[in-house]
Amino acid sequence: MENKKLKYIVEALFDKPIDDKELLVNRKKELEHLNKIAYFQPMGIFGVCGETGVGKTTTLNFINAENAKRLYILITEKDSKEVIIGDFLYKLSLLQINSKNKKVRKLATETRDFILNEMSYNTSYGGGVNFAANVSYEKSINNKKRFNIYSVKEYIDNLLSLLIEEYGKVLIIVDELDKEKKEDVLNILDSLKSVLFKENIITIVSLPFSIYREYSNDRMRWNESGNLENIFKDMVFLEPLTAEDIKKMILKRIKEYPDYFEMDALDEIAAFSDGNPRDALWIAQQVALFNTDKNKITKELVKKGIRRIISQNLNNSLSFTDIQKTILKELAKEPVDRTTLVKRLEKKVKRQTVYTYINRMKDEGIILEKSGILYLPSKIKYYIEIL
Ligand SMILES: Nc1ncnc2c1ncn2[C@@H]1O[C@H](COP(=O)(O)OP(=O)(O)OP(=O)(O)O)[C@@H](O)[C@H]1O
Ligand SMILES: [Mg+2]
Repeated sequence: MENKKLKYIVEALFDKPIDDKELLVNRKKELEHLNKIAYFQPMGIFGVCGETGVGKTTTLNFINAENAKRLYILITEKDSKEVIIGDFLYKLSLLQINSKNKKVRKLATETRDFILNEMSYNTSYGGGVNFAANVSYEKSINNKKRFNIYSVKEYIDNLLSLLIEEYGKVLIIVDELDKEKKEDVLNILDSLKSVLFKENIITIVSLPFSIYREYSNDRMRWNESGNLENIFKDMVFLEPLTAEDIKKMILKRIKEYPDYFEMDALDEIAAFSDGNPRDALWIAQQVALFNTDKNKITKELVKKGIRRIISQNLNNSLSFTDIQKTILKELAKEPVDRTTLVKRLEKKVKRQTVYTYINRMKDEGIILEKSGILYLPSKIKYYIEIL
């Protein structure tokens, strides 16, 4: 295939959060709900949850409210709770430092200078506010973790109050908290709560899946000591996309070469992805790179590519005992409930053993369950095939 075409395709399939509406598939319902939250709710912290790569950042990118000033904050410094809150303030100030509004600009500059000084105070890097401000910030924030958290909160509070005064309502989007451990995320939010729970401030954060589960249990009163509902007023869960949406997503991206993947090749990619757009893009891109000599990608080429990727990636990280293999191979044939699976394995494995193994593999995410039916993630199914 000519280089130009291949370059276009590989670039189009590159995995990064999008903000171009033309490329977005689905998420209409979720975005409508999030936009309503942003527009109508008076205040509060709200969550967007979902497995990694399902599209949290992408969804956050499209949230908007006509009546609010939108601020997107990407937390990058995460050494401790204090550092995260400091980073929050730093990013908040940077966003406003070029504000057209003179009052906002002035306070933002003062805030930025405060945090740079605070962070670099007493470190060998010295000099917070100079032409190398960014460099010294990055270094010192890692080196000095203790600073006056109360002043930081006060600055956040002042800056937010001014923004409310100027814009009426503020919509703060905080991304990348979902990469932290559950306890840490809660800790951080709990500590930011005092400054974020303010009339006319809406905060929407990305969260790890585990928090969603716990939050739902709280709401339904299934948890002993429900306290997540004290922090979160509402939460939106992002389900995996449908196979149709996955195919649409790829076609939208490679729109100059709509015939590059044959239809059943796209089906195969969608099946492998289990509705995770990141996995779909990854496989699609890899297959393109494996087959630079081909003008068209067939289903067979996708299968071959998947097998190659699976054996490269899973061979080193996953190994199964004979009993596990027997159970997984049986389950690979079709999804079934526990009792049926145990019965089918009757002659090969002891009943109790099957139950124990199923539970353990479920905990590890090797076996999935939906409404009592056990099934395998596509990646595991492919892996079993090549064992
Ligand atoms: N609804 C969508 N329409 C089109 N592309 C999408 C959609 N959702 C996600 N993608 C694509 O899938 C990939 C993963 O999305 P994104 O980075 O938003 O996921 P994430 O949940 O934020 O992941 P992480 O857990 O790593 O932060 C990106 O390449 C993104 O462009
Ligand atoms: Mg993300």
